[in-house]
Amino acid sequence: MNQSRENWGSRMGFIMAAAGSAVGLGNIWRFPYMAGANGGSAFILIYLVFVFIIGLSVMIAEFAVGRRTSLAAVGAYKHYSKRWTFAGVLGVVSAFFIMGFYPVVGGWALAYVFKSLTGLLSNAGAIGDTFGAFITNPMEPLVWMIIFLLMNVVIVAKGISGGIEKAGKVLMPTLFVLLILIAVRSVTLPGASAGLAFLFQPDFSEVTGQTFLAALGQAFFSLSLGMGCMITYGSYLSKEEKLPNNALIVTALDTGVALLAGIAIFPALFAFGMEPAAGPGLVFVVVPSIFAQMGGIGTLFAAIFFVALTVAALTSSVSLMEVVAAYLIDQKQMDRKKAVYSTGFIMVITGILSSLSLGVMSGFTILGVGVFDFFDILTDKIFLAIGGMLLAIFVGWVVKKEDLRDELTNGGAVPFGLFDIWYNVVKYVIPLAVAVVAVLGILDIAQTGLMLFGLAVILVLGIFSHKL
Ligand code: PHE
Repeated sequence: MNQSRENWGSRMGFIMAAAGSAVGLGNIWRFPYMAGANGGSAFILIYLVFVFIIGLSVMIAEFAVGRRTSLAAVGAYKHYSKRWTFAGVLGVVSAFFIMGFYPVVGGWALAYVFKSLTGLLSNAGAIGDTFGAFITNPMEPLVWMIIFLLMNVVIVAKGISGGIEKAGKVLMPTLFVLLILIAVRSVTLPGASAGLAFLFQPDFSEVTGQTFLAALGQAFFSLSLGMGCMITYGSYLSKEEKLPNNALIVTALDTGVALLAGIAIFPALFAFGMEPAAGPGLVFVVVPSIFAQMGGIGTLFAAIFFVALTVAALTSSVSLMEVVAAYLIDQKQMDRKKAVYSTGFIMVITGILSSLSLGVMSGFTILGVGVFDFFDILTDKIFLAIGGMLLAIFVGWVVKKEDLRDELTNGGAVPFGLFDIWYNVVKYVIPLAVAVVAVLGILDIAQTGLMLFGLAVILVLGIFSHKL
């Protein structure tokens, strides 16, 4: 084990960074449109069940593995068993793939701060067209994406406590305050109650196998699980910290922000008579449209909203970049700066391809989808869920139970047999539940070829695990 390993500067710093990783585009950009597209309340209910039964337990497991080994994902798996190295590598691949599309959307958010302030809202009828024209433009979104990636490089290159922790401590509380402000404005609009009903009155008529896979994928994505990110963050955590408590706080914060984003968007959406199933453009089209109808103060609210979105995206993308960087630092003995610069360089290239796939390169498809969707669907619909399942199997069947007990209880006792409940959930319930949901969802999904490709990638990684 590495004596000179970096550590979080404080408990608050860790929580803010881990919550910063969890709270991101997943909560504010993706959660509302997923909920909107999957019928609202029923999706949200299934999502909440997955978050608190599967997500929370997996997060505790990731923290435990990370802190026990003081190693990032790949090293942590390898530490126990060479055969399992592939599960860590799958995490690094997932981080790369998520970073294939994430900075593109991060760039949109950044661009929209400036667009809101420079007249976007003055022509409410054109907001949808403006978004379409913007994301399909061959140059403009690339510039914003690269600026967004550069911000990541600067933060991650500064290291754990100097960069990521400092940024999270300032930016996360700002985000909470901003979102509450917007939510309050939204629910006080006349006609807002229809939006709250859409969010909170369960209607199971639209639930299919896909709904479950979508909700599970969203739970893993939103909590930053199933790809070693929380293993990596846990590896920098001091031995005194109580892991279950920290995991509960992070999970609650993440869920709170997603619900808050829903409360900020849907009541206003219904108040203005718009469509809930607007897709990925939801925040970028509907939110400015909502604010455009509020006059001058709306401009300010819109700009604030996009600052919040950019902040949330940034504290998440740094954690994704850190997973790749930590792998190069821990496993390839690379210097931090060199690791971050080379990682950032490759991400600029995947980001460019991904952004262009929405416009000039839209004719180019891999297994039926464009580059952006390729990265998005593969990670969200398979890699994270299978990654989480692998972690649960690993923790339940490979890691010694007594090591886990020691890690989770800090040597003390836990009330109500909670440790054993958690252990059995991880060992039996999660592997089974994820398998069932994955099969149901994959049978039900349109992109069968892509799904099979994803499974093949995991299989190949598994077979060559001894070489990784
Ligand atoms: N949780 C982040 C979000 O909601 C995305 C993310 C996924 C970050 C996986 C790290 C790891 O936007």
